[in-house]
Amino acid sequence: MEHLFSFNCPVCGQKLTLDGNSFRCPSGHSFDRARSGYVNLLLPDGKHAKLPGDNRQMVNARREFLEKGFYRPMADALCRELVRELTGKGNLTLLDAGCGEGYYTRLAYDALVQAGISVQLLGLDISKFAAEKAAKRFRPEEPVHIGAASIFHMPVEDESCDVVMTLFAPFCREEFLRVLKKDGLFAMVIPGARHLYGLKQAVYDQPYLNEVQDYPIEGMTFLRSVPVDDTITLHGDEIMSLFMMTPYYYKTSTEGQQRAAALEQLTTETSFEILLYRKA
Ligand SMILES: C[S@@+](CC[C@H](N)C(=O)[O-])C[C@H]1O[C@@H](n2cnc3c(N)ncnc32)[C@H](O)[C@@H]1O
Ligand SMILES: [Zn+2]
Repeated sequence: MEHLFSFNCPVCGQKLTLDGNSFRCPSGHSFDRARSGYVNLLLPDGKHAKLPGDNRQMVNARREFLEKGFYRPMADALCRELVRELTGKGNLTLLDAGCGEGYYTRLAYDALVQAGISVQLLGLDISKFAAEKAAKRFRPEEPVHIGAASIFHMPVEDESCDVVMTLFAPFCREEFLRVLKKDGLFAMVIPGARHLYGLKQAVYDQPYLNEVQDYPIEGMTFLRSVPVDDTITLHGDEIMSLFMMTPYYYKTSTEGQQRAAALEQLTTETSFEILLYRKA
């Protein structure tokens, strides 16, 4: 099915349209859609090779963990904020920048549709493993495109998005501002100071609080910040899934990793800030 809204050609910047199972631009550049439904828009010039997309192990760990619902309160709060801001509007385009394996992408889509808000959705992630898993969350007839591409060079038309959301993914002000329409909504979720403090206590000799700063963004008007705090208790494999989906695992000594692997139960705070802005 062809959707109104799509990606731009990463080679020449013209609009891509879906033709059979390929996205093509008027100049004949063509990008095949994988069987899972995502399209790889990373150019094979090695330019992206150094960018730190999540590997298969991290993507699988995140899928396992998120599906258990431990972060669902934050997802629900984000969806409430989106619905609150977007009620009464229609024909919207929402971009999930750094969508990962698509947990929040799917929930946001469902929440908006359920609220009677018609929305087309784009999801981008530099990790092909993540993009593939995200794409599989959607049916072909749903107005959703998932692509593998970098946040720092998004194959997305200028001023084409009503909403950009980004959760725990790299931040690129210029790109987010470029693709947002005037008055477009920007929703960003960042970890709060005490997020996963219990996990850090378990694996680090000297656990530290996350640094949370006021987050003024030039070119955007700050609307509000919505904190979501919770305490979760994990058992067995859930602990390793959480650990392996975070950067902590990859920054922790073997000893710290073994400490985590030996845990039978872990109780930890979770803490998020949902930050909402409007493009000025
Ligand atoms: C912590 S994960 C968050 C994923 C998802 N938003 C979520 O909350 O479940 C960060 C994601 O950013 C992606 N990423 C890292 N660098 C990127 C870049 N330059 N462009 C696009 N995605 C990137 C990773 O591949 C990973 O999927
Ligand atoms: Zn082209």
